Amino acid sequence: MKRFATWITSGIAISGLILFSTGITQSQEIFPAGQGRNTLFLVCVQCHSLSRVTEAKLTAADWEFTLYDMISRGAPVREEDIDTLKKYLADNFAVETK
Ligand code: HEC
Repeated sequence: MKRFATWITSGIAISGLILFSTGITQSQEIFPAGQGRNTLFLVCVQCHSLSRVTEAKLTAADWEFTLYDMISRGAPVREEDIDTLKKYLADNFAVETK
């Protein structure tokens, strides 16, 4: 009986792990690896979800504006991270035209 319980527990643990890692894989596709991604994950979730980022239809220039807008609203982006984050957003989430 004890062995059965262990079996069940590890089964649950393993399926949890699989679900968890698929979640990670998916977010890596939506948010490609690159300098700036960590800042995005740390800073840009503090007031709203990252769907704000994925669903925004912004040009590179709009991203620059929006980034400073967020900073003026209180987003704690370090001075030295601004350019990297700006580039990450423009490279991965900018649309050509609206
Ligand atoms: C201090 C809180 C705060 C933080 C931190 C923050 N935001 Fe926002 N963000 C807001 C608010 C409030 C709005 C809604 C503004 C509105 O609807 O007028 C918003 C809206 C947005 C939008 C939608 C704007 C549009 O024009 O479609 C985007 C994109 C966005 N945020 C990106 C970011 C990014 C990228 C970061 C990280 C650098 C970030 N936010 C961090 C407060 C924040």
